[in-house]
Amino acid sequence: MEKQIAILAGDGIGPEVMEASRSVLDAVAARWGHVFTYREALVGGAAYDELKEHFPEETRVICAESDAILFGSVGGPVSEAHLEKWQGCETNSILAVRKAFGFNANFRPARVYPQLQEICPLKAEIIGAGVDLLMVRELSGDIYFGEHKRYEVNGKRVAHDVAEYDEDTVARIGHIAFQAAEKRRQKVTSVDKANVLHSSKLWREVMHEVAAQYPAIAYEDMLVDNCAMQIIKNPGQFDVVVTSNMFGDILSDAAAVLPGSLGLTPSASLNPEGFGLYEPSGGSAPDIAGKGIANPIAQILSAAMLLRFSFGLTAEADAIELAVEKALDDGVRTADIQSKGKPAASTAEMTTAIIAAL
Ligand code: IPM
Ligand code: MG
Repeated sequence: MEKQIAILAGDGIGPEVMEASRSVLDAVAARWGHVFTYREALVGGAAYDELKEHFPEETRVICAESDAILFGSVGGPVSEAHLEKWQGCETNSILAVRKAFGFNANFRPARVYPQLQEICPLKAEIIGAGVDLLMVRELSGDIYFGEHKRYEVNGKRVAHDVAEYDEDTVARIGHIAFQAAEKRRQKVTSVDKANVLHSSKLWREVMHEVAAQYPAIAYEDMLVDNCAMQIIKNPGQFDVVVTSNMFGDILSDAAAVLPGSLGLTPSASLNPEGFGLYEPSGGSAPDIAGKGIANPIAQILSAAMLLRFSFGLTAEADAIELAVEKALDDGVRTADIQSKGKPAASTAEMTTAIIAAL
């Protein structure tokens, strides 16, 4: 298979973990006889340095001309937050790319690896038989993309952000969630605030209509406040969790701490045509950037998701995921997932271990 991948490494640890995931992709290409070509493009602070824009038009074009996007991370250190370069960097980069390609579905898996139970912040009896959930976040609507306005009433400052959903947008993400559950453990939890919000009442109504078309899948509604609690109290109960843009933003961060490090968790954003962007859930980690110690697993697993979702290369994606587990089985640990008394592997050592396990 011949495919072109747009590489948007971004800031902080982005470039170094991107290099790691490229070498894994190269190893996959060599073993299965594929040709992957990479086109690098600037995003975030790195783009601002060159072009005074966080998501330049050239980058959009390179993405549009590619078969998928592998994204690193964007953003700078807190100590530099006042610099122009970092003003609005994350929103300008991430929201702009979502908008440019109409990404409407965001997949954020959260798994507690049996090998890494000790670094999960929850007690062993809470993790129980294991945690393996998939957050499916609607990414194109809600309060993110409704009217944002600031004004004055009687000399007082007022602002509003409109949360809006239409039935087609809800149904579309509903089908995506149910189809994901069919390939997993046959359960969907839809999260809303239907006791208060009209947009959530519509959400729930439409989700029930979609659920009726998937009788084999267990379905439940859950209020968002309760869901926040359940993610901490009993995360093993969840298989697929589907929710709105705003709630998904918050709940996916809560779920992302379960594996024990943000360096472990990949994510995917897809549009209705199946075009996708793949990125680690964590940020640019400027404090450890350039030291060669960042965990490359999230970026490598993002590449595996890319092969699976964008190119349909299931065996190759499975092989990468198994290779990551093998490296963990062998006790290879970067600093963020280090076991007490054992040495920490560098980014390069972790990558080499994963490639060897392929
Ligand atoms: C995320 C981020 C973004 C979001 C920000 C950076 C705009 O928090 O991808 O979860 O809110 O969607
Ligand atoms: Mg977020």
